[in-house]
Amino acid sequence: MNRVRIAGLGHYLPEKTLTNLDLERMVDTSDQWIRARTGIQERHIAAPHETSSSLGLHAARMALADARIDGADIDLVIGATTTPDGMFPSVGSLIQDGIGAKRAGAFDVNAACVGFMSALATAMQFIATGACARVLVVGTEVLSRIVNWEDRGTCVLFGDGAGAVVLEAAQFGGPLGLVLRSDGSKKLALFAEGPCGPRDANGEGPAHHLCMINMEGPAIFKFAVQAMTQAVRDALTQASLRVEDIDLLVPHQANLRIIQGTAKHLGVPESKAIVTVHKYGNTSSASIPVALSEAQKEGRLAEGARLALCSFGGGLAWGSMLLEYSRTGVVPTQRNEALVEANAAGS
Ligand code: COA
Repeated sequence: MNRVRIAGLGHYLPEKTLTNLDLERMVDTSDQWIRARTGIQERHIAAPHETSSSLGLHAARMALADARIDGADIDLVIGATTTPDGMFPSVGSLIQDGIGAKRAGAFDVNAACVGFMSALATAMQFIATGACARVLVVGTEVLSRIVNWEDRGTCVLFGDGAGAVVLEAAQFGGPLGLVLRSDGSKKLALFAEGPCGPRDANGEGPAHHLCMINMEGPAIFKFAVQAMTQAVRDALTQASLRVEDIDLLVPHQANLRIIQGTAKHLGVPESKAIVTVHKYGNTSSASIPVALSEAQKEGRLAEGARLALCSFGGGLAWGSMLLEYSRTGVVPTQRNEALVEANAAGS
């Protein structure tokens, strides 16, 4: 079976920012409340002409440049999004066209905020089996289009953005453990209806507010910490590793207190957790690839570092992937623990 290296990473946030002070003028909230309860200070909002595919295309081009390859070298494009440009074609197909990946297949994965991790796991299977040599995975969202801007309980949380990863068959790197879980019976805790939902007796679809993000905030908060903690523990057990073997925790960026709670329950020092939620809010499928791309640019991804990705979201869905990060794809002769730890701590 092939292993998988991360050959390139890229991320893109739309230019416009929406601060907590801006939100104070829109709903009954305060900068102080949002910072204290969520850690969020600002988020980015797509311009009217932008879509998930256009944000994703920016991130994809950056990841290709980082990997020093062309779109033509890609065998498969997988989009991860809950806010596609349309029902079809897939965002994957639109990005495939945009990068000129003329011989690539393309499709999308939707697992709400677990979408990117699910797409990454799918891509890694294609590479492990030898079906593909290079796969582009893009997590991209314009959540601002499905946020209810009159609901202070949700509108302060979300933002737009995109992150992309180029994966390549290698001798070293890739998943060590994978846990993906779902409980569809809890679907009403977090949902947004779409255009194809059930009709009433008059042939009418769901009310407008049901087609935006609806959420039971406190219930999701409790579930998130417990589910991510257990998923990481299960992935560690699969890989016969201990919590101390985690060099970097890469959690879904929904709320700073959820990240802190998960790190605490796991027994991972907070300094090992990547945090971007203060700048970008919750960008759903984009949050983990954006965090990875930023971490790489900041020099926090050391060759051979063991990353614990974890996420949760609508479904309800949740999971964790333990990932041995390799840029070179070359089996190391000696694992440099000190360097990995120093880089992970950002020093
Ligand atoms: N500004 C000011 N007050 C607000 C507010 C806002 N933006 N949003 C809610 N409140 C109020 C509530 O109305 C409530 O008032 P009440 O006590 O008079 O009824 C009070 O603040 C406390 O609300 P509560 O919901 O208990 O706060 P909380 O500490 O649980 O924080 C969330 C709310 C939404 C920030 C938090 O529950 C959360 O982050 N949940 C997870 C959400 C998530 O991650 N979703 C995405 C999953 S991918």
